[in-house]
Amino acid sequence: MVKSWWKESVVYQVYPRSFRDTNGDGIGDLKGIIEKLDYIKLLGANVIWLCPVYKSPNDDNGYDISDYRDIMDEFGTMEDFDKLLDEAHKRGLKILMDLVVNHTSDEHKWFIESRKSKDNKYRDYYIWKDPKDGKEPNNWGGAFAGSAWEYDENTNMYFLHCFSRKQPDLNWENPEVRREVQELVKYWLDKGIDGFRMDVINMISKDQTFPDGVKAEGSLYGDKDPIVMNGPRVHEYLKELNEKVLSKYDIMTVGETPLVTPEIAMQYVGEDRNELNMVFEFEHMDIDRDESKAMKQPFDLIKLKKVFTKWQKGLENGGWNSLYWNNHDQARVVSRFGNDKEYWEKSAKMLGTCLHMQQGTPYIYQGEEIGMTNVHFETIEDYRDISAINRYKEEVEVKGRDKDSFMNYLHELSRDNARTPMQWNSCENAGFTEPEVKPWIKLNPRYKEINVETQINNPNSIFNYYRELIKIRRENEIVVYGKYDLILEDDKEIYAYTRTLDSKKLLVICNFSKNEPVFNLPEDIKYNFSQKIISNYDVDDSKIEKIKLKPYECRVYMLQ
Ligand code: GLC
Ligand code: CA
Repeated sequence: MVKSWWKESVVYQVYPRSFRDTNGDGIGDLKGIIEKLDYIKLLGANVIWLCPVYKSPNDDNGYDISDYRDIMDEFGTMEDFDKLLDEAHKRGLKILMDLVVNHTSDEHKWFIESRKSKDNKYRDYYIWKDPKDGKEPNNWGGAFAGSAWEYDENTNMYFLHCFSRKQPDLNWENPEVRREVQELVKYWLDKGIDGFRMDVINMISKDQTFPDGVKAEGSLYGDKDPIVMNGPRVHEYLKELNEKVLSKYDIMTVGETPLVTPEIAMQYVGEDRNELNMVFEFEHMDIDRDESKAMKQPFDLIKLKKVFTKWQKGLENGGWNSLYWNNHDQARVVSRFGNDKEYWEKSAKMLGTCLHMQQGTPYIYQGEEIGMTNVHFETIEDYRDISAINRYKEEVEVKGRDKDSFMNYLHELSRDNARTPMQWNSCENAGFTEPEVKPWIKLNPRYKEINVETQINNPNSIFNYYRELIKIRRENEIVVYGKYDLILEDDKEIYAYTRTLDSKKLLVICNFSKNEPVFNLPEDIKYNFSQKIISNYDVDDSKIEKIKLKPYECRVYMLQ
């Protein structure tokens, strides 16, 4: 397998708005990130992915960009950014920017021009269509409720927005758009950043016939996703971007790609493809949700094992995985797949172990390393996410769904679970901002118990456990490059797998339940010598043939 620095890296994701506020406006900022670089360094991650920091009216918290070459006022200035990059590099930390080029803000100058008239020079930068029978050009629904089309009186046409109506989709069919993107990518790379996380990058090529989507039962709109994802020219566009710009720099790229299978993913990340280094798949995040109905489904370990294994095996020859439990779009994993009550600490450590011992580049989302949990906002007024607010209107106010049942869905799966302020200490506002300030979004009340300060000097904390996981990866090639194999496939409580490199084998055992199942070592696993590498309970090292596991227990052994 070809070795590279980005395969050996661990990424820490920062959501700047909620990380650290230094000027008392209740909103995190770039200076706040600079202040916390030593913290990230201490954890041991070596790459930081910054969610968008560009100029934006914040309809979707920065995923609606109005100027790709400027910094959001609330976050600071370009000078602050340059300082951040410099300070990060001084510490050996790399910076990944978020590249959001499926769409812009409707306040971007291209769109302001585009909507002026049909013959404007920027008209074709976006996707404009005539009405069909006096209505929307097709039945597509947008990701944040409502139609994906917005009528514009001025020219009596509709424009496409796969996300909010303030996020018009760019028209990649237009070579001028592709040239603009190449130039802005070059602008940031020339500044010295180390790569990009590319927002919904598999949506940039649309089927030019714009067919209707299938309408799920009870849904007001057709499902555009299978039509707009992995479209006909997406690989051509990515190859072009790679050839003209990306390939000229030693960087790392990760594409956010909903609705991909390992086979499709290989077309983006295969070593011979010259497109991206890795993608974020969504299958393991979809096992307990039904988005078309806005419903949580029960967690099923067998399903999770199947999905992870499919991805581990599917990319092991010439591809590469990214590994994540959390990001700014997902509920907190300890509340979702673990137990955030009596086994909070144990299950957070077990989940970290299960993921970090797999093959791929791990991503840690801010607060995951201290076991931050889901928040339970009582009213819809406390939510800030456009997705939660718009869907509440559609589900509860338009369709008449029971309010409590919808709030329940938000408690379990809303993106705002991930967006509450980072919990640095137990003071009022958790050290995110000054005690008298009102943060842009409410804190999770558990900050008094769950915060960095109480964990950093406690050798048994989740934070120090994550440090250890990262260190193990750094010191053992087998964790990065070893071949993955699932064992005990049908066990409903235990997720166990091995990693193999040359004569070594890593054995990973994770109990996903509060029961005490027995782990039986499969007979075909032979070894002369076993050594425990890490575990979340104090346990005796030697015996691995038959282990009665404790609730949410995990252990990793090196076998030779
Ligand atoms: C991605 C982002 C998400 C955003 C959407 C539109 O999925 O991660 O936060 O809302 O794209 O840009
Ligand atoms: Ca601020």
